[in-house]
Amino acid sequence: MDVLVIGSGGREHALCWKLAASPLLRNLYCAPGNGGIAQDAECIDMDITDHAAIIDFCRDRSIDLVVVGPEAPLVAGLVDDLQAAGIRAFGPSAAAAQLEGSKGFTKDLCARYDIPTGAYGRFTDAAAAHAYVAEKGAPIVVKADGLAAGKGVTVAVTVAQADAAIDEAFGGRFGAAGAEVVVEEFLEGEEASFFVLTDGVNALPLATAQDHKAVGEGDTGPNTGGMGAYSPAPVMTEAMIERTMEEIIRPTIAGMAADGHPFRGVLFAGLMITDTGPQLIEYNIRFGDPECQALMVRLKSDLMAALIATMDGVLDRFDLRWDSDAALTVVMAAEGYPGDVQKGSAIGGLFDASLVDGVSIFHAGTRDDGMTFRANGGRVLGITALGKSVRQAQDRAYDAVDRIEWPEGFCRRDIGWRAIAREDAED
Ligand code: AMP
Ligand code: GLY
Repeated sequence: MDVLVIGSGGREHALCWKLAASPLLRNLYCAPGNGGIAQDAECIDMDITDHAAIIDFCRDRSIDLVVVGPEAPLVAGLVDDLQAAGIRAFGPSAAAAQLEGSKGFTKDLCARYDIPTGAYGRFTDAAAAHAYVAEKGAPIVVKADGLAAGKGVTVAVTVAQADAAIDEAFGGRFGAAGAEVVVEEFLEGEEASFFVLTDGVNALPLATAQDHKAVGEGDTGPNTGGMGAYSPAPVMTEAMIERTMEEIIRPTIAGMAADGHPFRGVLFAGLMITDTGPQLIEYNIRFGDPECQALMVRLKSDLMAALIATMDGVLDRFDLRWDSDAALTVVMAAEGYPGDVQKGSAIGGLFDASLVDGVSIFHAGTRDDGMTFRANGGRVLGITALGKSVRQAQDRAYDAVDRIEWPEGFCRRDIGWRAIAREDAED
């Protein structure tokens, strides 16, 4: 098969790396890709918001399958446009992508189908939102309704913080994404990411993961796209996975189908595991980044076959094999991230780092200038390691990190700390 992957991050590098290992693959392309992805796929310099250009490329190269990595093109209807042009594409339709594209849409779905999630209100004017906060009190969570690159959520400890977040959203900080605001009950517990493949009817659980969103050690400081992740997430026991499937995932899939927009693709549930069980924080409609990197090194089965089974609607007759080892990804970012960063600094030592046992290096934002790799974004590398325990995976990942010569980059040194504390307590 000839396959085109859409995207340019660490998630897309991991997807390309895994697809490149498929016996079903003939040619692999990635648009626009990055310096590291070029090791596994032919990178195509293309504007991915130009759906007509993507369709032309697919026709020209007789592409059999398009795999869309990030949320923005899914919400923008790329899969609908490809399918209308007769090109097979993996990922949800724009209508189904509202599960990530509109937090209010998801909350209403939860209310309609009795899916556990925090109590909430949807608001299009500031006064009503302020009144709701005054009634409920703090802590409380304020969210821009639309896509805001992970920055649209404020966990407000005080009413004043919540009020400020409401004014910011309606003041235009997130553009159109903040024209509506969801105010939501604060949930207490441990977070986990849970992934399923779904063909619109059947759901096949993938592995679990936990990510570290905050930029600073001890999970402090501003939120980022994710500074690291590990899989599996120990909080997701077999029993908790079954409850999540029963109480959250299956009703969502059935509800989406009943409402006339079946969801096909990867459904990523951000969960809070509370004292009373799993609660939905949010849905994403794609693999997580960097969770995908940790998942892909644990997946033993052919990813391509799984994507095809999803599109063919036969997931009830499909299974996947996973490595029982743990995987852990440490993100290396350019100084200044999640704020403004300088591009262009040279990165050395990548080959030496790749020699560490169990390590795979995924590029999130690099370009290859022919002589060396250079930083080309906020998140730049995802150093991923397998290990018999999270501790061993962490040791290997940081061993590789320490071989990388990149003074302009930084990483957190504590990725996996919760899981490692748990492992230590069990010893
Ligand atoms: P989101 O972008 O919706 O994933 O939210 C970003 C982060 O905010 C989540 O990973 C949680 O840590 C936190 N968060 C969001 N909603 C809630 C909630 N209702 N209660 C507690 N924390 C939340
Ligand atoms: N790492 C969180 C996300 O991909 O949304």
